Amino acid sequence: EGSKLWGGRFVGDNDPIMEKFNASIAYDQRMWDADIRGSKAYVKALEKAKLVTTDEMTQILQGLDQIFEEWSKNVFVIKPGDEDIHTANERRLKELIGTPAGKLHTGRSRNDQVVTDMRLWLRDAISTLTDNALQLMSTMVERAAAEIDVLFPGYTHMQRAQPIRWSHWILSHAVALSRDVDRLQEIKKRVSVLPLGSGAIAGTPFDIDREQLRKDLEFDGISLNSMDATGQRDFVAEFLFWASLCLTHLSKMAEDLMLYSTKEFSFITLSDAYSTGSSLMPQKKNADSLELIRSKAGRVFGRCAGFMMTLKGLPSTYNKDLQEDKEAMFDCYDTVHAVLQVATGVMSTLEQSAMTAALSPDMLATDLAYYLVRKGMPFREAHGISGKAVFAAESKNIALNQLTVADLSAVSPLFESDVSSVWDYRSSVEQYSAPGGTAQRSVAAQVEHLRTCVLQA
Ligand code: ARG
Repeated sequence: EGSKLWGGRFVGDNDPIMEKFNASIAYDQRMWDADIRGSKAYVKALEKAKLVTTDEMTQILQGLDQIFEEWSKNVFVIKPGDEDIHTANERRLKELIGTPAGKLHTGRSRNDQVVTDMRLWLRDAISTLTDNALQLMSTMVERAAAEIDVLFPGYTHMQRAQPIRWSHWILSHAVALSRDVDRLQEIKKRVSVLPLGSGAIAGTPFDIDREQLRKDLEFDGISLNSMDATGQRDFVAEFLFWASLCLTHLSKMAEDLMLYSTKEFSFITLSDAYSTGSSLMPQKKNADSLELIRSKAGRVFGRCAGFMMTLKGLPSTYNKDLQEDKEAMFDCYDTVHAVLQVATGVMSTLEQSAMTAALSPDMLATDLAYYLVRKGMPFREAHGISGKAVFAAESKNIALNQLTVADLSAVSPLFESDVSSVWDYRSSVEQYSAPGGTAQRSVAAQVEHLRTCVLQA
């Protein structure tokens, strides 16, 4: 006699190793709340379909409420044979109310149950991550607004490129994050689809009011096809990819900050709250927060790639391989949840200094070319002339702005005494006032736009 949900056709017991191998209770118990919510809605649908009496429904609801209490007080006892959260809750319901418990699973399968639980769980998780991401975004945007006057050396290929605003750098990362927030809302729409009422594969033969279930569980829509509903995990894969992309963005930001925090750059100092020391070298202050942010991108992408490998080659409908979805989903959630909060802490507490002093005249070589362009020279030619000026300064071992008007007019007669106006970093950045540029006006517009995004999200 099998005590298992599916024990009827079995005479032999599972090998204990198989039992452990098969069980998901160790991690899917995280969905206890979603599982109970789903069952409470389902028993109401059963009552409406006259598959349980009102009295039986009441008993089941009360039993489920007690199970809810036990989980929330952390006193629910998992017993041997509790294969997963669904099995555990149903086993406990039977202990509490007896026979009517056996009616709860009428027309339902763990196949539609588990994916309902996951969608409920992920929907809440997405709301939390959205809040976390908006918090980080708003920290970055307000920092950019407050420090809009700070100039900063911009790099391409890790080589000094052009003077920019420090705020422009901050916002470049905030804009990427704003797309991550958008993408997450897109995913949420597809997560918020109710599978319950799909049974194991074929649907339900009973008068289960799926539209009512949708309303009770606050889903946006109901699944269109029961085979797709029970066998698809593309919503999980999308979330894992989202986590990978989001952390790839934050990894890039962390990498920049790590570099900027080195003695060689000395642009920023990380707060003690987000740094650690060395057990051997007393002088060390390591940017472990940033290194961990960088590393977590690899971790979550590993989850994503691993789960894609699990999905690849699966046949239609539910296969036990799909049980692998949960650890990937939970781990990516936990990781992104932590990273977003740590990144918020780092960004709100780091100190910046000496950035403007790090600018050098060679970074204005492009502006020197633009000076000639404004005098009518084709850009290609101006680029070549400015390059010759750079070469001349290098040969003389002096800074670009140290070349005299005579030196410069030797390279091009278009250079006149007003060329001195080129050597001003602040007026250099102010030229870039078209939308998206690094001028004060343009950066202020970016701040305003992102503030609106945060408010409207
Ligand atoms: N623990 C299972 C999972 O996470 C629940 C679904 C089991 N369904 C089944 N037909 N064995 O996927």
